[in-house]
Amino acid sequence: MRAQATVSLFGEELSLVRGRSGAVSLHGAPGWAIETRLGMVWVRRLGDPATAVPPLTEDEAGTPACPMIAWSEIEVEADYDQTVLGLVDPAHVPMVHTAWWWRSSARRRVKTKHYAPSPFGFTAVAADGFASAPAYELVGSDRKVTIEFRLPSTRIERVRGGRLRILNITTVTPIAPGRVVLRNVIYSSVRPLRWLYPALSALGRAFLEQDARILRRLDTHASKHQPLLFVGEPDQPSAWYFQCKMALARAVGARDTFINPVQPSVLRWRT
Ligand SMILES: [Fe+2]
Repeated sequence: MRAQATVSLFGEELSLVRGRSGAVSLHGAPGWAIETRLGMVWVRRLGDPATAVPPLTEDEAGTPACPMIAWSEIEVEADYDQTVLGLVDPAHVPMVHTAWWWRSSARRRVKTKHYAPSPFGFTAVAADGFASAPAYELVGSDRKVTIEFRLPSTRIERVRGGRLRILNITTVTPIAPGRVVLRNVIYSSVRPLRWLYPALSALGRAFLEQDARILRRLDTHASKHQPLLFVGEPDQPSAWYFQCKMALARAVGARDTFINPVQPSVLRWRT
């Protein structure tokens, strides 16, 4: 069956059409490219290398072996960069994401992570055994959690423990000046979890709402005229976000290769 939907991106209305074969295409939008991956439709402006779809290595994600177990989105009136910082900033987590199902204890501990440059961004790997979220403890102590950030605004968390795979993707989409959509989608190799899809999606939405509540309180008009202040190691990923963004703008302007400014680092903070 043919179906049509309209989406907003950078203030432009784009028309998506799903044909009889199930393929999704853009209708009457020559400056845009479209790709379907993991059951999601990714739309980008042509000619910007950073907006290429992230090379997700979990090929099984989105298939019957690793189905989608949660999907949520929330539209918020907020500054684009401030929203993206929420994807990389570890310091806001113990203050903003305080739900009982996310943090079982208010006790703070020192967290250590190794950061390394990765395509158009950086990837963090936890160096200590404890998990900030009790849900991770269920995965087992041999779990490996990596969190990748890639320009322009994609956070990809991969959890592996034994045969378990979780792929947790969060994106920020600029739909119009001062308006963004925060979107989260989770896949898991634990197939029975798909029966919990409504409940897990509701939890995901509650998580995004915690970020949105803070974003609505920010005076983004004032912050545009004030220099951002980054303090200490927890703010280093935020500084890298802006450095990567500037490096990309330079590379695009000079039609040159993107040179990743991120250096391999070990960062510590209390969480
Ligand atoms: Fe957050």
